Amino acid sequence: MFPKDGKAKDIASPRIAAEIWRNGEFIPWSEARVHVMSHVLNYGSSVFEGIRCYKTKRGPAIFRLTEHMQRLLNSAKIYRMDHGLTRDELCSASVELVRRSGLEQCYLRPLLFRSLDEEHPAFGVNPFPNPLDCYIGAWDWGKYLGDEAIEKGVDVCVSTWNRLTPNSMPAMAKAGANYMNSQLIKMEALVNGFSEGIALDDRGFVSEGSGENIFLVHDGKVVTPPLSSSILPGITRDSVIQICRELSIPVVESGIQRAALYVADELFFSGTAAEITPIRTVDRITVGTGGRGEITRRIQEVFFQITSGEREAPGKWLTYVNQMKQEQTGNNGFHATPVQEPIEGSAAGSEPVTKLHAAAAD
Ligand SMILES: Cc1ncc(COP(=O)(O)O)c(C=O)c1O
Repeated sequence: MFPKDGKAKDIASPRIAAEIWRNGEFIPWSEARVHVMSHVLNYGSSVFEGIRCYKTKRGPAIFRLTEHMQRLLNSAKIYRMDHGLTRDELCSASVELVRRSGLEQCYLRPLLFRSLDEEHPAFGVNPFPNPLDCYIGAWDWGKYLGDEAIEKGVDVCVSTWNRLTPNSMPAMAKAGANYMNSQLIKMEALVNGFSEGIALDDRGFVSEGSGENIFLVHDGKVVTPPLSSSILPGITRDSVIQICRELSIPVVESGIQRAALYVADELFFSGTAAEITPIRTVDRITVGTGGRGEITRRIQEVFFQITSGEREAPGKWLTYVNQMKQEQTGNNGFHATPVQEPIEGSAAGSEPVTKLHAAAAD
């Protein structure tokens, strides 16, 4: 799939939203710039999210928006980023961004980071003097691990790089700096001819891929590493667990030895970008029958039925962008709240949100 030097693009050319949300307002793509001496560029001080918005018959629908924004707030809290943004503001901004972009489907990238106050610049490791900035961008992103991967599966390796240790960098925060570790894992995999790498934790148990959680199927049971294996608490992972429960497939969180990957009946990745991608080989050893396994297929089928709005989710997982109404909140104007799940064929409200509460992040 990738040339030996790893220099291939891993995605199809993206269509990008013309505007970016910044601290409560929309700005043109070309104005979304940072100073080169920003704290984040020097010390990696950012937290972010990756959210998919799916094309459905009722227009674009953002998948598990609230949960993603809650995770962003959790990541910010861990890194003592005192930004003053609320989850509702971030959700409303995302809805409005998708609406204004005109994209039928896209990937949303909320990003909160320590920037630079050019009047009073601060250059040290201490992040507190640096202001915080929050941006949300959007682009149309194809299948992260390739178009064929969803059906045929990917060839992966176990990385020589370990995942972060719990008391060095918290894997449960989705911090930009964590992705230096992910890049080592990904680059090593690509230059050796694999699509992705699986990292072990500091004790040698399976942790996760560079940008995905991992699941193993053995004797009809689905197994996934616990949070204590230095994983990101994936929202797709949580969705898979809930789908398994709905399908009466037993699912457990348990430490997984590297060797268990080789003898598993099925393996698959879960993640916002990768969605549910089967793994067909690990370290050139064929997993199961070397393609997508039956349990993976069933979970994948339900997942895509839910994300396309064709099947009811176990919870309120989809935010329909064109079906949000305006609500006055008092002091500061409006925020978008979801209209109750519309009945098929009803003329549910599509009044645009015209004003967002501008919460300066710094
Ligand atoms: C390191 C890592 N693990 C797991 C995941 C999957 O998380 P989610 O399903 O919330 O996208 C991601 C993607 O965000 C990731 O970067």
